[in-house]
Amino acid sequence: MADDILQLLRREHRNLAGLLHVLDRQRHALNADDTPDYDLMRQIVRYLDGDGGSDHLPLEEQVFEQVLARRPALGARTARLAADHERLRRRGRALIDAADSVLSGQPVRRADLVSLAGVFVADYREHLCREDNEVFRPLEASLAPDERRALTAALPDAAGAGNDHEYRALADRLIVQGAGPAAWAGTARATCPVCSQG
Ligand SMILES: [Fe+2]
Ligand SMILES: [Fe+2]
Repeated sequence: MADDILQLLRREHRNLAGLLHVLDRQRHALNADDTPDYDLMRQIVRYLDGDGGSDHLPLEEQVFEQVLARRPALGARTARLAADHERLRRRGRALIDAADSVLSGQPVRRADLVSLAGVFVADYREHLCREDNEVFRPLEASLAPDERRALTAALPDAAGAGNDHEYRALADRLIVQGAGPAAWAGTARATCPVCSQG
């Protein structure tokens, strides 16, 4: 049986926030003239943008579709969030291209990489907060128990059942490096400019 829909989306956001924290540490390494793990950066960005097998974006799109059928008034918000996804994909692509250039021996200005990574991380964190504040919270406050059950029942069978192999592979890689999920806890909220205003 899948998790409750909102619990599942929130848990996935915590995972994404943790990965953003790890990516931000690589940006700090770059900024401090250390050598970041470019391959890890690529893997994280691909996952965050849904190119690396993440279940989150397709699941979110499906949930938003069903939410809109019940709450048409949320349409402007979900459209804005979909535009966020597109912009984040473009920014992620630019960051991956720059990391690829470094890995293939082409000259890339360190400041450009720091900037690309910084913009991507900040934008993604704000997106997670926006989604939380503008959609998840209103849903939590307004969905009747039977609506919530209906949304949960419409989840794909695999959702939340630990079948997100790409996330598992990333988390395992980070645990081996001593940077597993326990080390990420609580970091996103403390650093998100949107959340820290609230
Ligand atoms: Fe999203
Ligand atoms: Fe999300």
